[in-house]
Amino acid sequence: MSAAPSAPDAPAEDTSAPGRAQPFTPPAFLFGGDWSPEQWDRETWREDVALMQRAKVNTVSLGIFSWACLEPAEGVYETGWLDEVLELLTAAGIGFFLATPTASPPPWFTLAHPEAMPVREDGVRLTHGSRDTYAISAPAYREASRRMARMLAERYGEHPGLRGWHLHNEYGTLDHGPAAADSFRLWLQRRYGSLEALNTAWSTAFWSQRYGDWEEITPPRATQYLHNPAQLIDFRRYSSDEMLAALVEQREEIRAAGSTAPMTTNFMLPTWNHLEQWSWADQLDVVSLDHYLDTTGPDAEAHVAYGSDLARSWSGGPWVLMEQNAWGIALGDRSVLKSPERMIRHSLGYIARGSQSSLFFQWRASRGGAEQWHSALVPHAGGSSRRFAAICELGDVLERIAPAVAPPAEGPLVEAEVGILWHADGWWALETPHLPHDGIRYAEELRATHRSFWRAGIPVDFVRPGADAARYRMLVVPCQYPLSDAQVRWLTEYAEAGGHLVITYLTGISDPSLQVAGGGYPGRLRQLLGVRVEELHPLLAGEEVTLDDGSVVAEWTELVEATDAQVLASYTHGELRGRPAITLAERGAGRAVYLSARLRQDSRDAFLLAQARRCGIGPTLPGAAEQGLEVVRRRGDGADHVFLLHHGAEALTVRGSGTELISGQDGADGVRIDPGGVAVLAVEPGAPLALVGR
Ligand code: GLA
Repeated sequence: MSAAPSAPDAPAEDTSAPGRAQPFTPPAFLFGGDWSPEQWDRETWREDVALMQRAKVNTVSLGIFSWACLEPAEGVYETGWLDEVLELLTAAGIGFFLATPTASPPPWFTLAHPEAMPVREDGVRLTHGSRDTYAISAPAYREASRRMARMLAERYGEHPGLRGWHLHNEYGTLDHGPAAADSFRLWLQRRYGSLEALNTAWSTAFWSQRYGDWEEITPPRATQYLHNPAQLIDFRRYSSDEMLAALVEQREEIRAAGSTAPMTTNFMLPTWNHLEQWSWADQLDVVSLDHYLDTTGPDAEAHVAYGSDLARSWSGGPWVLMEQNAWGIALGDRSVLKSPERMIRHSLGYIARGSQSSLFFQWRASRGGAEQWHSALVPHAGGSSRRFAAICELGDVLERIAPAVAPPAEGPLVEAEVGILWHADGWWALETPHLPHDGIRYAEELRATHRSFWRAGIPVDFVRPGADAARYRMLVVPCQYPLSDAQVRWLTEYAEAGGHLVITYLTGISDPSLQVAGGGYPGRLRQLLGVRVEELHPLLAGEEVTLDDGSVVAEWTELVEATDAQVLASYTHGELRGRPAITLAERGAGRAVYLSARLRQDSRDAFLLAQARRCGIGPTLPGAAEQGLEVVRRRGDGADHVFLLHHGAEALTVRGSGTELISGQDGADGVRIDPGGVAVLAVEPGAPLALVGR
């Protein structure tokens, strides 16, 4: 059973303004992490709870991989151990997220229901021995998951310490087996109505792929050469909808048992792209995110901001950081250590941008098992360690900044005038093979765009296609390769109503079925942009060219004709010399800018900053970002909380009339922030700030 698919022409159109019925507002910032008492003896449980109290931990996530302990044999439930754990936590005043453990079916389940194990693209059916081995559409798996959710809800759904339901863990196993084939066909029938419509949308006249019966259609399993791109993207959409249907079933079981606790599931960045996050967020009370950094350089800080801005945008307000890594940054074949100072600064970075928590994977480092070397709040060295002392320090800081947890009565948590369009369709489309340039990755493009604004100190939101974008003076659309008619209309109306639209290469090339719109690229947007692109000119690896405004370009250029637009910058090399590279079209009360070249990061920074300035958009605190000081104004209940996160090398002082929450200093005297340090200044809403030097 899968969720109703979106109509072919209108994938995931927005139907409502983002924002939960009630923003997720815990009594204080949630602090703690995944705790796996099933891996430890009772003496360690007691030691753990004492250490949690020492560190001021107030929340743990339980049960995420506990299926085998909770149901050791089919229909036989053992919850005594969990009752004991909850008693210990409750006596210590520590709350918990309770997971449904459905991400990791135990071995008995595999043996009893082999058809409920996922099948890879190459036809190999997986077995137990790791985790996430489930065929999402297999009836036995769905049934067992519903029963488990119901059992947990009946038993713990009204527990006073329950902070929320953590449904499953990082949904994301794709299945290509027979159960998936059946439900994929049903999804396609609902999306297309007839085989004729599907054949047309999928261009099956090519390579003799015409389908004469629904039964002939399979998931995109291993085949001789390239897959049909329309089949590939529909399978991604279907898989997201199918996993969402499974989540909704669990949610309904829990609600039917009478539990009213908030529902969430943890999304995963930077690599996991199996979900269409906006439609998922619609089904949750709060969005939560697992965020793992992939760089040790200054870009780690930009990455914290990127993940946070995405999560806040998906959630439409406050969100939950469900997992981060306390000490390690994964770099290929090794995990490089993060300093204690950086761990604290990053934790506040997430909170600045809307997180209601600082939760980690995991509480205590495992002695065995596949993740025994993953860092933890309590390292292998134990509670008497430099690392654990830093965790206690973070607990103190979080307690001091607790007043910032309450969201504003009205309006956004972080005010942004720049929106960046995000939709999984763009990511999935650019992952289909055999494009003019397979090395241009959606996530990298989005991150590069976000990075430019982060470097300039300008706040941004991510925006759902079809959303009310009127509050953004500028809307940037990077690499949204497929666009529906409705989305083209929405963009056009945004510009005509006075918005400043910036659209990049590889946007609007195709319809939702990935059929290229003819007559010149980007076929869906030619009129809006006033350009016609006859040829796409990817560059060679390492090749760089320039524009006459000094920009440096790598990877991608185009042969552009400005049919109804002014030229802002032109190419200066070879065949494209003198041809437009960046154009601007006046449209109604607004403008549509087209960027045909993939600018190198520094040039992208300059270009986007110039566009923002043109709209009168500036940084939160002028002069700060250039010196490595990240400034985020998190709006609250009757006050703004200005987070000052210093990634730079020289001490800086910021003045603002209010109190610095960590030190208690009077902000009117100026708050000095040392390199690597953090400060949170509580000021009157909208109160001015000044950077008063070193
Ligand atoms: C994920 C999972 C955790 C753990 C961490 C390790 O986010 O949810 O169970 O495996 O990754 O980084």
